[in-house]
Amino acid sequence: MAKPRIYITRKIPDKLLDPYNEKFDFRMWEKEDEAVPREVLKKEARQADGLLCVLTDQIDEDLLKRAPDLKIVANMAVGYDNIDVDAAGKYGVIITNTPDVLTETTADLGFALLMAAARRMIEANQYIRKDEWKNWSPYLLAGSDIHHKTIGIAGMGRIGKAIARRAKGFGMSVVYYNRSRKPEAEKELQAVYADFETLLAKSDFVVSVLPLTADTKHKFNAEVFKKMKNSAIFINISRGGVVNETDLAEAIRTKQIKGAGLDVFENEPIAANHPFMQLEEIVCMPHIGSASEETRSAMLNLCLENIGGFFTGRGPKTPVEY
Ligand code: DGY
Repeated sequence: MAKPRIYITRKIPDKLLDPYNEKFDFRMWEKEDEAVPREVLKKEARQADGLLCVLTDQIDEDLLKRAPDLKIVANMAVGYDNIDVDAAGKYGVIITNTPDVLTETTADLGFALLMAAARRMIEANQYIRKDEWKNWSPYLLAGSDIHHKTIGIAGMGRIGKAIARRAKGFGMSVVYYNRSRKPEAEKELQAVYADFETLLAKSDFVVSVLPLTADTKHKFNAEVFKKMKNSAIFINISRGGVVNETDLAEAIRTKQIKGAGLDVFENEPIAANHPFMQLEEIVCMPHIGSASEETRSAMLNLCLENIGGFFTGRGPKTPVEY
């Protein structure tokens, strides 16, 4: 019997494929620093039984309807807003994602962003690099305290809880907003449930861990920034689409809020001429939430396990429910 054909949309280490080579016929986009062009992806998908893709690959109806043999799409991310799940259901394609393995690493980055924005760490580093450090003075690069402040977490899933655990270590009060109450987080982390408005009003740090859906698109907009404290710092480690970026830049420019730490943007990648780059109060990262070597390998291994499980009849380990 012919081996299932799997197309991998980025170059990944060959050694990860070794345990699977006997059972699968892999093809891979070979250029390290270049994303697979859309036309190539569509052509490869037409001939594939499975895809291992990344969060910037748009797996939409147009692609799915032209891929008659496609049975599984293993997305290398916990978020899967790049995939049209309704169309996947219509064409009988299973979708898998990579929860759990990236939780702690992503929470580390979220907290690092919070600290970098609060304590002006990128600005301070630039200050030395630009050879501007000539003196010590009482308020030189003074930022905001983190310890014992209030953190408001919007989206109390696995990553939200991991952020809350870190916040507890800093003696912070944790407020959270979520579609449903999380009794275990309330008990273990003394996290206090609040409606969205209350969270905005109370928090010194507002952290978005909300998935991007029709309901959360541009949820953080001018009206919302107005409801935050003027001293508040906004952190986003979920998806750029939950923020109206023009409103965020304006809220910071007009000192409606104090600053932001962003790992994600509505249209990635952003360039050096993006308006955020004009604002020192915003710390930007190129979507590296889960980017530790260990975690990125764990994510790829989980994608391969999902594909392996599906084709050997054991079933994928982490299918997306839709
Ligand atoms: C995810 O998995 O959704 C993250 O954004 C990847 O870093």
